[in-house]
Amino acid sequence: MAPPLRIGIAGLGTVGAGVVRMLARRKDDIATRTGRKVEVVAVSARDRNRNRDCDLSGVRWFDDALALARDPDIDVFVELIGGSDGIAKAAVEAAIEAGHDVATANKALLAHHGVALARAAEAKGVGIAFEAAVAGGIPIVKTLREALLGNRVERVSGILNGTCNYILTRMKDEGLSFESCLDQAQQLGYAEADPTFDVDGFDTAHKLALLASLAFGVQPDPEAIHVEGIRSITLADLDAADELGYRIKLLGVAARSGEAVELRVHPTMVPKHWPIAQVSGVTNAVAVDGDAVALTLVGPGAGGDATASAVVGDLCDLATARPRAVFGWPAVNLRPAGKPAIQRHEGGYYIRLAAVDRPGTAAAIARHMAEQNISLESIMQHRRGRPHGGDRADSAEDPAPVVLITYATTEDAVRRAIAAIEIDGVIASPPQVIRIEKD
Ligand code: NDP
Ligand code: HSE
Repeated sequence: MAPPLRIGIAGLGTVGAGVVRMLARRKDDIATRTGRKVEVVAVSARDRNRNRDCDLSGVRWFDDALALARDPDIDVFVELIGGSDGIAKAAVEAAIEAGHDVATANKALLAHHGVALARAAEAKGVGIAFEAAVAGGIPIVKTLREALLGNRVERVSGILNGTCNYILTRMKDEGLSFESCLDQAQQLGYAEADPTFDVDGFDTAHKLALLASLAFGVQPDPEAIHVEGIRSITLADLDAADELGYRIKLLGVAARSGEAVELRVHPTMVPKHWPIAQVSGVTNAVAVDGDAVALTLVGPGAGGDATASAVVGDLCDLATARPRAVFGWPAVNLRPAGKPAIQRHEGGYYIRLAAVDRPGTAAAIARHMAEQNISLESIMQHRRGRPHGGDRADSAEDPAPVVLITYATTEDAVRRAIAAIEIDGVIASPPQVIRIEKD
């Protein structure tokens, strides 16, 4: 049997402790199947005395993650601390410099610094494995980097944030508030240390940047992505979508657009009968459209076990094979993604307006839509109060909620129509606009 693969893990939280437990639980099968033991020999975290619910006897402890990263008695440095900069970045750089392979679940780090880190790793002949950084337990990195190499990929899209999907699902199914659902997601270990990364769409953007790099050979670059989160989605929107035959999902979409790649993250209405509409709770889904194969992978998107599964898979790869180029293309060949303007986006739109209840309002709204050549597929007006007016009881002074569904148009036209409606003073608050994907 080959000598053991010696693992040093920095970060023993939801994911790190999960990896220690999984490696212990699966050690015999892993040794049999990889031909060597995969052993945790050293760890680092902030608080040495915290109960981690995993066996660390005989494992060396480092107060300083940097010292662990440089330790000559490890083969692989596993970074499970988090954050795009600070100690996580410094430790990964130090590990590469020391000639160690790296495994990480840190999408923020790789989205912001992936090109530089990949260049450093490839120059040193070491790998950076990051299956756990995208869509939790779904093996989408390996799928794009290896299994689909024969394809020219046109589009990668999906539900990439477990916390947001969990929140949207529970709000819709149980009528719970955004805040209580987020609180639950945090308690379950799904959310980022700073959950604004989840709910404001940045975590999805980080993952999309990595998927785009793997699929299209572009540099990961969060700045190239149009990002909107789910904070503005209300129970009224979820109910209206339901009545109209849709579900609202936070989608990340990366698609070829000429020489550039269109990259966008935003709440999206998808027809209820689409498989992605059925993906609920913390589950993620990633759809890949290749010229030979189109497929969708569905699985748990966050949580200790799901993410540990991806990290352990990476470690088993590192135990048996030399790593490939980090993003599947040599880092020097990665090109900028470009940034097609969201104003040119074409599709259907859901527009919810708090219309002032007086004669001429409907006519003004219809006129401004027509002026922008926007055809309306449906117009829905309910009496005040939930389902489409919010959670409160009716009041004669409240504006009347109006929901419009447009046929395919451009973002630019929608924004111009809304600006004109606002100037007319026929709506009482900023409108809600959600892009629609349909057959
Ligand atoms: P946690 O907050 O649960 O754990 C973070 C760990 O890092 C803690 O053990 C903490 O130590 C340790 N840590 C913090 N600062 C330092 C430091 N300076 N030196 C050494 N250790 C330090 O985070 P998660 O496990 O949830 O996430 C870890 C990474 O995995 C992040 O990049 C996250 O984005 C990613 N990820 C998380 C998923 C999830 O479902 N949770 C899913 C996919 C990816 P201590 O315990 O002593 O405070
Ligand atoms: N906070 C992330 C999520 C963890 O909810 O999807 C998994 O990357």
